[in-house]
Amino acid sequence: MIIAVDGPTASGKGTIAKALAKHFGLPFLDTGLLYRAVGYQVLQEGGDPDNAGDALKGCDFPDTLLADDTLRSEAVGGLASRVSVHPEVRAALKKRQVDFAHQPGGALLDGRDIGTVIAPDADVKLFVTAPAQVRARRRYDEMVVRGVDVTFEGILADIHARDERDLSRADAPLKPAEDAHLLDTGNLTIGAAVQAAITLVEQTLQKG
Ligand code: DC
Repeated sequence: MIIAVDGPTASGKGTIAKALAKHFGLPFLDTGLLYRAVGYQVLQEGGDPDNAGDALKGCDFPDTLLADDTLRSEAVGGLASRVSVHPEVRAALKKRQVDFAHQPGGALLDGRDIGTVIAPDADVKLFVTAPAQVRARRRYDEMVVRGVDVTFEGILADIHARDERDLSRADAPLKPAEDAHLLDTGNLTIGAAVQAAITLVEQTLQKG
C-alpha cells in the first residue's frame, strides 16, 4: 500500500504523515528533507540556489547530511523551496522517491507532488492544508519553544513567500491530485487531525 501525503509548509502534514506511517506500519520518507539537503549543500559549496547548474550539483549531497538537524531550520527550508523550482533538481531526486514509494510492502511519503508526480498510483492520497495565519502561528510557537529569535510577522512573510514559490513553479507545482482527500487542520488539534487522517485512510481502503 502506498500513502501519499502532500500539502503546504506547516500544515501539519509532517506530523500526520509520521503518525500514519507508524499506525499502518509503513516505511516513511520525508521528501522535503531531500530538497533541504540540496539547498544546504549548494550553500556549503558557495553556489547560488537560483542557478539551475549550481542547484543540480547540490543533488550529490552525502546521505549522512539527511540526519543533520540543521536541515530543519527555516533558513534551509527557504533554500529548499528555491532549489526545488529547477526541473533538473526535481528530475535528479525523482528516482530515489519513486523507488522508495514502490518498494515491496508499500510506503508512505510526504511532500508536495507525491500524489501527482511521484506516486500517482498511490492507494490513498491526502492533501493537508490550513490557513496561512494558522500555519504561521504554529511555526512561530514551535520556534519560540526552541528558543529561536523570530517575529510572527517574519514567519508569516516566509510562509507566504514559500507558498507562492511552491504554488507557482512550472514543474510539479503544489496542488492536490484530483483524487486526493482534503484535510484542513486549521481548527483541529494535532490529535484530532491525526485521528481524522487515520479515518480517511481506513474509509478509502474499505471503498477500495
Ligand atoms: O516539506 P518541507 O518544508 O521540508 O519542504 C521544503 C521545500 O522543498 C518546499 O518549500 C518545497 C520543496 N519540496 C518540493 O518541492 N517537493 C517535495 N516533494 C517536497 C518538498
